[in-house]
Amino acid sequence: MSTLIYNINTLVHTEQSLKSRYFGEEMAALACANNAFLYISEGKITDFGTSNPEILNQIQNQDPGVKLVDAEKGHVFPCWVDSHTHIVFAGNRELEFEDRIKGLSYEEIALRGGGILNSAEVLRESSEDDLFQSALGRLNEMKKLGTGAVEIKSGYGLSFESELKMLRVIKRLKKESPLIIKATFLGAHAIPEEFKGRKRDYLQMLMHEIMPVIQEEGLAEFCDIFCEKNYFSHEDTLELMAAAKDYGMTPKVHAEQLSHSGGISAGIKSGAISVDHLEFASDVDIQSLKNSGTMPVLLPGAQLFLGLQNPPARKMIDAGCSVALSTDFNPGSCPSGNMNQMVSLACILYKMTPSEAIIAATSNSAYAMNLEESVGSICRGKIANVFITSEISSYAFLPYSFGSNLVKKVFLKGELQ
Ligand code: NIG
Ligand code: FE
Repeated sequence: MSTLIYNINTLVHTEQSLKSRYFGEEMAALACANNAFLYISEGKITDFGTSNPEILNQIQNQDPGVKLVDAEKGHVFPCWVDSHTHIVFAGNRELEFEDRIKGLSYEEIALRGGGILNSAEVLRESSEDDLFQSALGRLNEMKKLGTGAVEIKSGYGLSFESELKMLRVIKRLKKESPLIIKATFLGAHAIPEEFKGRKRDYLQMLMHEIMPVIQEEGLAEFCDIFCEKNYFSHEDTLELMAAAKDYGMTPKVHAEQLSHSGGISAGIKSGAISVDHLEFASDVDIQSLKNSGTMPVLLPGAQLFLGLQNPPARKMIDAGCSVALSTDFNPGSCPSGNMNQMVSLACILYKMTPSEAIIAATSNSAYAMNLEESVGSICRGKIANVFITSEISSYAFLPYSFGSNLVKKVFLKGELQ
């Protein structure tokens, strides 16, 4: 199966050779091809460039079975990469949403047993099948909005049975969804009721009972922890991540979301592939991120939804860091999986330029889930995950027109969805 997309106004984020991530000012220089074609075969990007009748004829002569797709002067983008989600969940939290509107804080709701523990209570009662169906529905919604790769975390089970149940649901999603999916073990998301006051025992259970099963069944590529006051500390993070690596998982950290709790430095020391949220990141953190292999991932949806302060995005980019963007799709702090919206918010709230935000939501987020060689740009040999927009005047029109869905057609592994 091969496809030739022609009549493309602009092919966005082209690369002549593979680049694993973009730092600082490199993020401002989004490469594009105007009046372009894109040739896809066997699910991969085979060729692209400026279009002319000769090249289109040549491809059709060489490959008479090629399917022609008219982009109708739309832009073609690499699909969004969402490197941080919690889309396996049961129930919703709109009552807490109302409580917060009336003045309670996220922390206050959590301290009285709401928040993550509320979601855990409902998830424990849900069947694997129901969880699978609802998560698949969310993936389909995200796919229509142009997302082609998604990281999914456990973390609403918080027990031996229910954490593994969530990870098995993710394993099934990997098999049955056309999106590229990676799984993260987030047992250290909160301390469940039955371990109240016994955090050490809970961590021991995660490390000595659950992690061996995860390795045996191949259930997770990454391990994450919520490093935050009232949750897990810098030291807990170092300890859990050392164990995670022993069991074949790569560290990730929920860091500096509600306060400066040392998650970034613990993440970097542990060799984390990403540290995420970062509203309370310091200047020292920014310097250490710059000199590390760890990607800072910003989640503007969660920040806006919880009314938190902006993370220092501009400072990070100006200091020469790479920065990624993702949704954090979850029932408590971001009930949205819309990456177009995140790109808009990054421009509006963080003063990232459209070029910076698009690179952050593609190449740099692909790095944050170890997919930088497979997706995230229009590069020969990469998986053909691309979307076609309606006819727009420039790529900046996409974040500018926030709230509209301009994604018209989505191709995953070269197949029209
Ligand atoms: O990424 N901060 C920790 N975890 C999630 C929220 C989870 C929840 O509220 O259900 C987050 O924001
Ligand atoms: Fe999260």
